[in-house]
Amino acid sequence: MTPDSQLDLLFDPSLIPSAIQEQLGPDLHLRPLASDDFKRGHFDVLSVLTAAPQLTPKAYKDNFDELKACAGTYFIIVIVDTSSDKIVGSGSVILERKFLRAAGLVGHIEDIAVSKAVQGKKLGLRIINALEEIGRVRGCYKIILDCSDKNIPFYEKCGFKHKEFQMVRYM
Ligand code: ACO
Repeated sequence: MTPDSQLDLLFDPSLIPSAIQEQLGPDLHLRPLASDDFKRGHFDVLSVLTAAPQLTPKAYKDNFDELKACAGTYFIIVIVDTSSDKIVGSGSVILERKFLRAAGLVGHIEDIAVSKAVQGKKLGLRIINALEEIGRVRGCYKIILDCSDKNIPFYEKCGFKHKEFQMVRYM
């Protein structure tokens, strides 16, 4: 596995909760997304969510740099298999600063994905727990997400409850 010290990471890795890393054990490593994670199967993992065509290395790096420039906003984490250096899980929390709630912060959980081969081993739960902890440490007063009906039991297991509806208009 490429050590974190040799990677360009999206955010300070000290925000990754050490207790969750301990739960994952030595075979899996939880860290912020790196600028060259396209090489480690990031798109393969995302493809369990929806069609995820590869970006060119330059487009990937440009997109990464754009997210990184928005300090304190984008927190994308990955779980890496330490023996293969491949990503087996990924998720993000995006922090939205409001004028409401005394300039409060809302976390939006997005793009939770676990490789088919390792689903059902609590990696999804660990990803959610880590994103929630990042949101809590950064000062969020709530964390919200949209999901399909079939994923409701998973998010209930993670401690979320149903509230309101999602609306969408595709452009
Ligand atoms: N139905 C019922 N229970 C479920 C389901 C389900 N579909 N999925 C997980 N659970 C339960 C598990 O049984 C487990 O319960 P337990 O603690 O009683 O044993 C608990 O939820 C935690 O499950 P994990 O093992 O952590 O789940 P996994 O690692 O497989 O990750 C995930 C779940 C992320 C939904 C995974 O199956 C996946 O990647 N699916 C395809 C992509 C997807 O739909 N992502 C979510 C999109 S929504 C969003 O991103 C906001």
